[in-house]
Amino acid sequence: MKRTLITGGAGYIGSITTRLIRSTGRGVVVLDTLENGHRKAVGDAPFVQGDIADTDLVEKVCREHNVDEVIHFAAYKAVGESMENPTKYFQNNVTGSQRLFDALTRAGVNRVVFSSTAAVYGTPERVPVRETDVLNCESVYAETKLMIERTLGWYSKTTDMRSVVLRYFNAAGATEDSQLGEDWRHSQNLIPHVMKALLGYAPSLKVFGNDFPTPDGTGVRDYIHVEDLAQAHVAALDHLARGGNSITCNVGTGFGTSVMQIIEATERVTGKKVPYEVVERRAGDPAECYADASLIEKTFSWSPSKSLDDIIRTAYNWHSSHPQGH
Ligand code: WQD
Repeated sequence: MKRTLITGGAGYIGSITTRLIRSTGRGVVVLDTLENGHRKAVGDAPFVQGDIADTDLVEKVCREHNVDEVIHFAAYKAVGESMENPTKYFQNNVTGSQRLFDALTRAGVNRVVFSSTAAVYGTPERVPVRETDVLNCESVYAETKLMIERTLGWYSKTTDMRSVVLRYFNAAGATEDSQLGEDWRHSQNLIPHVMKALLGYAPSLKVFGNDFPTPDGTGVRDYIHVEDLAQAHVAALDHLARGGNSITCNVGTGFGTSVMQIIEATERVTGKKVPYEVVERRAGDPAECYADASLIEKTFSWSPSKSLDDIIRTAYNWHSSHPQGH
């Protein structure tokens, strides 16, 4: 059986994508250091504990497990930390990915799906933002993702490697059965913080500014359900398996939602109050960022199937049943 190598498959988006891919009948092998991921999230999928930078290990895993395609999730992803410790991010994300691609090349694996981020646009010049718009990284984290995108671009030009780069907007929510979700101990993102305040694990949600030039003054983002995001990876693998060309796509809903709208939706869906206070803006936060998702919709016939209420409901069910984070 041919297998998909999934780096970072014990993490939030990685584990949910791994489960979805297995449900389609494909074989997988997960590679994860377990520094931030959880062994439990991999379930009974074939698993190797190790680093993407270990070229000998990656080459051996590819050969032994008959790997013919890869989804590369493994990375550090905390924006704030990347500004305090850039070396950690350049080394792990950029150097690690380059070593991974070297090992893949040696093992003859030439189809790669890569998790990138809408953070490569920084403060977009216009919304909805398109793939061809100006790239303006405002953090080391974003820069590392863009450097990996560009590295893949050069591998595509100079070798037989083909890649799909997926620029995620704001991944959120959990699986419908509450088996897999985000570890809120490792997250700086809005929805886990809303849930912490709602469930009494934090005194209140801090709303980072209500004086942005947006309809209600709070920041606007494009929240995409993690199971829809996982489905986009399956579509990307299918595209490459069909012989499709290298491509870079936004993965979002195309709709913007403000922080206040998230609070209101949470109160409506759960029937509980979200304690919150408005504080200073967070450094580097754009007012608005949401996707033009027409390229992925057209190229992969993919479109999101879940609503904002589904995101809130599944996140609430997951966090209330997994307060320890995993
Ligand atoms: C969303 C909105 C905040 C927390 C970042 C990275 C991106 C990706 C996802 C990836 C903003 C507001 C948030 C809080 C708040 N990371 N907010 N109180 O900043 O769009 O994207 O995370 O791996 O690359 O840049 O997401 O969830 O942090 O913020 O008011 O406690 O919620 O100001 O408007 P962001 P976010």
